Amino acid sequence: MSSLTSKPLQASGCAIGFENAVEQLEPIALRVKGEIPPWLRGNLYRTGPGTFRVPSTASPTGSVDLTHWFDGLGMTHRFEITTSGSVMYRNHSTADGLRKRIEKSGVVPGVTFGDQDPCETIFSKFFTMFRPKVETPPKPIEGAPDDVNIQVTLTPDMPGFASHHSIPSSATKATPRYLVAKSDNDTLQILDPETLKPLHATTYAELDPRLDGQISAAHSCRDKTTDEFYNFSLKMGGRPVYKVFRVRPNASSEKGFDVDVLAEINDAPAAYLHSFVMTEKYVVLCVWQADFKYFGATIPLNRNIASSLEKKWNPNRSTLFYVIDRHSGGLVSKFKSAPFFCFHAINAYDSGSDDITIDLSVYDDHSVIDLLYLENLRNLSAEKPMKMGRARRFVLEKVSTPGGKGSREATISFTLPQSSSVELPTVHPALYHKPYRFAYGMNKLDPKTHHTFADRLIKLDMSQPESEPRTWSVPGYTPGEPIFVPRPGTTSLGDAEDDGVVLSLVLDGETQKSMLVVLDAKEMKEVARAEMETHFPFAFHGVFTPN
Ligand SMILES: [Fe+2]
Repeated sequence: MSSLTSKPLQASGCAIGFENAVEQLEPIALRVKGEIPPWLRGNLYRTGPGTFRVPSTASPTGSVDLTHWFDGLGMTHRFEITTSGSVMYRNHSTADGLRKRIEKSGVVPGVTFGDQDPCETIFSKFFTMFRPKVETPPKPIEGAPDDVNIQVTLTPDMPGFASHHSIPSSATKATPRYLVAKSDNDTLQILDPETLKPLHATTYAELDPRLDGQISAAHSCRDKTTDEFYNFSLKMGGRPVYKVFRVRPNASSEKGFDVDVLAEINDAPAAYLHSFVMTEKYVVLCVWQADFKYFGATIPLNRNIASSLEKKWNPNRSTLFYVIDRHSGGLVSKFKSAPFFCFHAINAYDSGSDDITIDLSVYDDHSVIDLLYLENLRNLSAEKPMKMGRARRFVLEKVSTPGGKGSREATISFTLPQSSSVELPTVHPALYHKPYRFAYGMNKLDPKTHHTFADRLIKLDMSQPESEPRTWSVPGYTPGEPIFVPRPGTTSLGDAEDDGVVLSLVLDGETQKSMLVVLDAKEMKEVARAEMETHFPFAFHGVFTPN
């Protein structure tokens, strides 16, 4: 197990990861050191922001600087591990149409996640209503494929688009046929899996007009056996409605797929929910505390999500769990727990005879949303440290037993300490929605003493919450989301669950360059790295598709 020195990383060391990336449209070979396992062949795709500052003569400062990490303009990356073991890298900006609009107008059109001018007062905001109208971007289906900024998660071959007109027939067998980029709104962007070029921008409503909400989770759920895809569509308004839906392939239907609305929830606050969970039997919508003020009515005025959330923490606003029958639909039961905030579900599964186990990365409140403004991320300090969520296990007991009209209390099995914090968590790809043992994530050992965004990669043994987690770290390095890739031919059971590697994009703060690091997952020890000549912008999520 590697350990950190006590030397803190200077804030500027990781700040480069929040600066514009170099575009690389043609594949280039990275310098490989160490030994990439001969079985590790395929493509690691990653998505996230790639442009944070847009030069613009229309702006008084000569540049339009995006203010929040979540608003950087999209870039998708591909690391192809070839049959010979070399690593070829390419990327593609996916919001060039939007970038050109910003360049021309000097403002960011439409609704962003963060406030584009956090210093602006309510008073001056009021007067912006009398300024020339800010350009509104076209609706995704009407605009160019790159007129949107969708850069949070990637779903290869998402059902519903298999026969879409935009998808090229040239895709090789070595890649998915297409990728679908998703975010926390209703917009989807179809990408070419080879060139990463945006092919089409659309919304969930193109799949079914009933999916007419403005908000969806960036983290959908997928059943790898049936290929079913699950998400929710939240429609704002006086009475917000969450429609939990499923898209399933159906060769005998005219469209090639069916959409089922499994449940409509209209007694929950409209909240910013970045993820939700699923088991073999149920979908569970966890409505933690990140409520939109006035049912989201202030979003058009604020033109952003962060300032439209209720900032005041309400200690009495419980987290609500809505348990929905995944197969036949309908609300089965409701649970509640003490308030918390969360970005990422780790995993969930059916347990006991009729229980559900849910693991989330939780925060005591939602102040972390404001910590993710770029100004803060580029200037981390002991006074303004970065926070990361802690793994908490909930058990919803006897879910199908009638519990009356109210909500029953969820049981908390454990909450791991801050030193074991976990963000951008992932598990064995075959074990989502199933019993599992190991979770991987980014970790920050001690928010008060280490000044980089994330110090280590961590492997949690969720079956032994008291055990010391295995970690990987190098002083001065900042890792990204770890993705576990199982060794082919192994099962996901027992000792084989961690038989594979962990892939992560890591920034070396000293050289200001990044690398793809390959770790042996059992020991969390490095076996190889593929070095880039540039920095890799801190991205959000990705997926590995084996050959
Ligand atoms: Fe996420």
